[in-house]
Amino acid sequence: MPHINPRGVYPVYLLCGARIIRGEENEFMKKTLIIANWKCNPTTLIEAKQLFNSVKRGLRNIKDKNVEIVICPPFIYIAAISLNGPLNFKLAGQDSFWEENGAFTGEISSTMLRNMGCQYVILGHSERRKYFKETDEMINRKVKSVILARLNPIFCIGENWDERKENLTQKVLRAQVEKGLKGIAKKEIKKVIIAYEPVWAIGTGKACSPEEAEKSGNFIRKIISRLYNQKIAKNIKILYGGSVNSQNAAGYIFGAKLQGLLVGGASLDASEFTRIIKNFN
Ligand code: PGA
Repeated sequence: MPHINPRGVYPVYLLCGARIIRGEENEFMKKTLIIANWKCNPTTLIEAKQLFNSVKRGLRNIKDKNVEIVICPPFIYIAAISLNGPLNFKLAGQDSFWEENGAFTGEISSTMLRNMGCQYVILGHSERRKYFKETDEMINRKVKSVILARLNPIFCIGENWDERKENLTQKVLRAQVEKGLKGIAKKEIKKVIIAYEPVWAIGTGKACSPEEAEKSGNFIRKIISRLYNQKIAKNIKILYGGSVNSQNAAGYIFGAKLQGLLVGGASLDASEFTRIIKNFN
């Protein structure tokens, strides 16, 4: 694959070189984000380490500074992995609680994740909305707490199959964005990454077409532009997630012109995950 930058930002990236060294934000804004969401897997620490080490080995020759790789293991493995990880991997939580600490049995706070070396947190994943009854209001509190802890929220939104069939996709996306980002100021929104994950495409093998993902991506940008401004809408990272594999990955970046991928099932297979990343190398 020729070494092209699909978003045409490469010259800007070079021009910003001096600023990249000083602040992470510019560098962060331009990289394609590939996020591995391990969900509730694997069941032993040994397997978690093996998976992580295989991914590390598979990517040892990757030099491309245009890709940022984020691993989201279950909380319980984060410590073991953060001690092991090379600097070119970032770590993320799969969720976090909005209070910093206190009597909240079973919860993990954003500050704790930061103190364990995480830089990102997935929030509002459809599995949390569905199985743990997370509401837009709860997710909004979480987004705020993640920003306060100086982490980047990966804010997930997406319509389910019935909503899509009834032509409600845009209505659902608008409501999720407006409620989930309520009260987030202009300077804070720059920390937020939006993951468009149609629920019907998650774990089903029925990925959304790049055309449809692009359409939803453009619509999300339109909402952000109305809520903030055009410049913020242009710069905000929008990812695609839902049955991503090494065969379809490129379509979402080069075709749909999105800025990254949230990978579930395929991230548990080190060679497949490595192949996904090599699409952008
Ligand atoms: P999947 O999951 O790649 O297995 O469809 C994606 C996600 O849930 O983020």
